[in-house]
Amino acid sequence: MKGHIASDDLEDLRNRADIVDLVSGYLKLKKAGGVFKGLCCFHQEKTPSFTVDPAKGLYYCHGCSKGGDVFSFIQEVEGLTFSESAQRIADRVGKTLRFEGPSEPPGQRAALLAANRQARDYFADLLAKGSEAKVARDYLESRGFDLADAAEWKLGFAPRGRDTLYRHLLHAGLKSNQIVEAGLALVVEGGQHRDRFRGRVIFPVQTLTGDTVGFGARALDDDKPKYLNSPETPLYQKSKILFGLDKAKAEIVRSGFAIVTEGYTDVIALHKLGFANAVATCGTALGEDHFALLKRFCERVLLAFDADAAGSLASERGFGIHSKIGLEVLVATVPAGKDPADVAIEEGRPAVQAVIDGAEPLMRFVLEKEIARHHLDTAEGKSKAVKAAVEKLSWEPNRVARSEHGFWLASKVGVAPEQVQLEIAESKVARHTSDRRTTSEVLRRPGHVKVEREALAILLDSPAELKRAVELVSAEHFTQPSHRIVFEAIVACAQGSGGESVMHLLPDESSRTLAAELSMAPVITKDPEEVFIRLEQFKIRRQIETLKAKLGQLDPEGDADSYTEVLRELMRLDVERRKFDDN
Ligand code: UTP
Ligand code: MN
Repeated sequence: MKGHIASDDLEDLRNRADIVDLVSGYLKLKKAGGVFKGLCCFHQEKTPSFTVDPAKGLYYCHGCSKGGDVFSFIQEVEGLTFSESAQRIADRVGKTLRFEGPSEPPGQRAALLAANRQARDYFADLLAKGSEAKVARDYLESRGFDLADAAEWKLGFAPRGRDTLYRHLLHAGLKSNQIVEAGLALVVEGGQHRDRFRGRVIFPVQTLTGDTVGFGARALDDDKPKYLNSPETPLYQKSKILFGLDKAKAEIVRSGFAIVTEGYTDVIALHKLGFANAVATCGTALGEDHFALLKRFCERVLLAFDADAAGSLASERGFGIHSKIGLEVLVATVPAGKDPADVAIEEGRPAVQAVIDGAEPLMRFVLEKEIARHHLDTAEGKSKAVKAAVEKLSWEPNRVARSEHGFWLASKVGVAPEQVQLEIAESKVARHTSDRRTTSEVLRRPGHVKVEREALAILLDSPAELKRAVELVSAEHFTQPSHRIVFEAIVACAQGSGGESVMHLLPDESSRTLAAELSMAPVITKDPEEVFIRLEQFKIRRQIETLKAKLGQLDPEGDADSYTEVLRELMRLDVERRKFDDN
């Protein structure tokens, strides 16, 4: 970043960035009156607490209390600095930022992103044009991918030389440690640098907003491992990223479900056939964070794994994850020895559609596996199968679903449905533990804190009230340091040139969050004047308490003068106090 971004530019960005559109890139929003609601992307939840107010340009989550404006949203969700987030929004709205003041060195995160982007472009260029990449082009062709696919997915080829990429990146201005930290090169014995990926086909992994943060690299010969992946870096956490999600998210929202595969090639092959809701894990097991990520976009996940992998997810732990997150999980059976890419390429769209249509709920899949372990030709065998299957059924927290699966189980095993329902009733079924709501914080707030919040909410909502308020309200009326900070920002904003918003003037995230929360609190119908008077009453009471304490420490005879002074002041305040009490 080069110095400070001009404040006019920031204000312009704030006006031009559509907060609903921006947030929709990360979670599903539904209109609810004048605001939009969705499942928060900062914490896990089943019912939407995340609110966006387009008129105010603010968001606030009632569940985790995160809130702010477009800048803080991008900062939080992408882990960027303020200026990086401004740059990101500027790119979206097509604005060139002007900078003021001295320049500062680029952040490490920006450098790592640049290293990844430069590497990706270098690999892609080589795949498209390099003579040594012919074997890579042939491989992709053999898998049914052409150059247009390669361009769309920014596929590449890593050169065979020991440090070709490393030298290219140094030349492009990156520092040695940045290249290493981005996972693109390794330091070998003697302090030499060696490229991590050599002679491999490159699959770049993008974040939701399209930044390349890592790579999967497939060998073209018998090199081991078959796929070499970027290590975990400050940018790249495999447990939190899904390959293809940036391209797939719109179709996931539209179709209502995501197809999760295990391979980069599966995703590309499925998208090519029009199944644009396919994503893949990046050389790691599908975990809780992946489910939480998908839950932002859909309610249903269809696993197109090979049977072993699906089996391992169908464990009690796996069930715990998806029932906690509230996603419906289906398992699609891919013909043995094949993966989704093979089905797509060899058999085409109808075959893939058949695999999708044949998907069954994860619980069915579990029960089927359990039943298959038993011989169903005797009453004893059937009874054992039912007992074992019902045991698994207890993982299902939903009673209705449990009973449904029970009926299915009965017909599958060939016993009367009552038999199974009886077994369910007798077994230790998982008790459905609903998330217990903690007593609302609001209820525990002392009166003066509530009034201070009301006053701030009024001032944030209608700055016109401030004119009247300046005579009545001062920073002294606020007992909470955070309330004072917000109050002072409101005053500064009113006195400013008009270019800056309150949000912009707030010094830290917690005060911005507070301001966003208060701005979006239900509009207070109380008369502002009444609220300001209450504020004054609380202040007077506090002053009286202080003076009483002071008086108690003074000796009426020894400190006669001070004593009288404090006493007078106390009496004056008491008159003030009673004046309020009367009306
Ligand atoms: P596959 O072995 O199915 O990959 O691995 P593929 O590209 O389909 O290979 P072929 O041509 O059918 O043999 C699927 C995924 O598993 C991860 C990668 O993410 C890959 O996309 N993987 C596989 C690794 O991370 N490391 C490995 O060594 C192998
Ligand atoms: Mn495969």
